[in-house]
Amino acid sequence: MNTNLTWHQAAICKTDRARQKHQRPCVIWFTGLSGSGKSTLANALEHALFERRHHSYLLDGDNVRHGLNRDLGFSDADREENIRRIAEVAKLFVDAGLILMTAFISPFRADRQLARQLLAADEFVEVHVATSLAVCEERDPKGLYRKARAGQIANFTGIDSAYEPPLDPEVVVDTAAHDLDACVAQMLAHLQRLEII
Ligand code: ADX
Repeated sequence: MNTNLTWHQAAICKTDRARQKHQRPCVIWFTGLSGSGKSTLANALEHALFERRHHSYLLDGDNVRHGLNRDLGFSDADREENIRRIAEVAKLFVDAGLILMTAFISPFRADRQLARQLLAADEFVEVHVATSLAVCEERDPKGLYRKARAGQIANFTGIDSAYEPPLDPEVVVDTAAHDLDACVAQMLAHLQRLEII
């Protein structure tokens, strides 16, 4: 840590930016196995928020790993660093007054807890996309489970790398039992209850 740094106080603060946008900024943190539907759900939710004139952004695992986190792999330590950076970026987006959606496996409880602790209690909405391993593997949209089972990918979440489900998430979504519209409606209702929208 560089000790020759001082925090620069911005002239316009989070409250000003939020008021201008007529919304309460927050992070909607999707977590779940690969293929659980995090990105699909986050995209559909963002579309619904956009239609309601909200200001939002989506950070997505595969995309962030092409840029900001291109130096990271899938060891436990790299996943921890992946989530740490994303959590810091998420905090900046909230400071910018936006509703941020993040779609990362984020398999470890401690790392998600770290993300939660960077924000105020009412700014972090953890959404467990609780699709079972069996269903994710059956869907296998990128063919990665098949490769992992064949020993062609090491440390694959759910196969030979752990996924720790949230113990007390704000929302649990069941994409196997409900279609996309129903899941988005469930999310919107929850955001309304929290007075985010
Ligand atoms: S996380 O565990 O660090 O949160 P992240 O969400 O960024 O993971 O990236 C997961 C995506 O990377 C998966 O959806 C999949 O497409 C791809 N991927 C490649 N290798 C692995 C692996 N070993 N385990 C999980 N996902 C992998």
